[in-house]
Amino acid sequence: MNYFPAVDPIPLPAPVWLFKALHIVTLALHFISVELLLGGLLVAIWLNFYGASRRGDPAALLRLNASAAIARRLPIVMTYVINLGVPPLLFAQVLYGRALYTSSVLIGVYWLGVVFLLMACYWLLYRFAAGTETGKAVWWKGLLAYLIAGAIARIYSTNMTLMLRPEVWQQMYSTSAYGIHLPPHDPTLLPRWLLMLTGGFWVAGLWMIWMAGRKSFDAPVKTYLAANGGRLAAMMLLVQAGIAFLVVKAQPEVVRSELSGNTLYKFAGLAWIVFAVLVFLFGAWAAIKKPASRAAGWASAGLVLLTMLAMVTYRDGIRDLTLASKGFFDEPTRVVTNWPVVILFLVLFVAGMGALAWLISVMMRAKTVSEKVTG
Ligand code: HEM
Repeated sequence: MNYFPAVDPIPLPAPVWLFKALHIVTLALHFISVELLLGGLLVAIWLNFYGASRRGDPAALLRLNASAAIARRLPIVMTYVINLGVPPLLFAQVLYGRALYTSSVLIGVYWLGVVFLLMACYWLLYRFAAGTETGKAVWWKGLLAYLIAGAIARIYSTNMTLMLRPEVWQQMYSTSAYGIHLPPHDPTLLPRWLLMLTGGFWVAGLWMIWMAGRKSFDAPVKTYLAANGGRLAAMMLLVQAGIAFLVVKAQPEVVRSELSGNTLYKFAGLAWIVFAVLVFLFGAWAAIKKPASRAAGWASAGLVLLTMLAMVTYRDGIRDLTLASKGFFDEPTRVVTNWPVVILFLVLFVAGMGALAWLISVMMRAKTVSEKVTG
């Protein structure tokens, strides 16, 4: 039996492969920002707690400085989380609307609640960042922000897994039509959510290596950021690898065998493993060498981007193969490409990217201001 609503009679205005490519690229960028937020926040909380509670310790000021350096960037990271979340949301709705709209309505209260959670999280991030500048113990404000961000991540994971389970929709809807119930137990949900939470640590580690290359910090802060960032990246990569194994193991047999039989997803899986190994080696190298160079920063950025692209492509495979096994693609999607609009979109997209690159280059050439806590 096919539980999915009928295909929309309005055709897609561009080829599916184009929507897919844009979806994967923009979602990888969203995930990078999410990981920077989740991981960076927890690292800043820990450094603030540790630094403020051991003031007599000679390394306390270093920790407080490193905490403030990360925390003051988090509200900016949040703007990227939100703005880079919108494009994949639009592409996902275009490609999977029949499944995604249904699951969003079924958990409607939680789904709409994200907006309010987001506002509370954003406000707390500003309070936390301002507090770290003074060197005071404000870790609890950061912790509250982290708990809210983790809850938002949980709601996203819940929706992205519920959209793959049409067999439970009817039961959920007949229990309540108000969107107040969460779905019945799903073995894939917990590992999937944990994959995102643990990913934050190694991404934050590489981010610290990136920051160590900035001129605005004193040499001891740079060394501290590079060495600890490297250690964090290498160690937590291993933890995330364990969770990734659990994610794959939790998938139904049919999905696992299709994943290893499909060339694209097999390649994406292999690429994910290769880049993850490179992250581990690079982190271990940074922990020993404590690099404070722009080159090491760019290598970190490149590794994060490549690893995330491979991961998102593989994740896309899990979704498509699960949906295929339940008959989602049995009725073909209608496509009538509107080429002038597609070309205009691509021209504006490239121009927008160019403008962004120019803005970043202006920012990087700006006069360096020394970053230190005032407390
Ligand atoms: C603190 C804020 C946020 C956090 C922590 C967060 C976290 C996450 C996580 C963990 C996932 C993966 C879920 C999974 O597959 O298991 C996800 C997916 C997603 N997020 Fe965010 N998110 C945030 C804000 C946003 C916002 C504001 C938007 C859009 C306006 C957004 C759009 C998306 C989309 C579209 C997906 C899934 C796309 C797909 O699977 O095709 N996110 N997010």
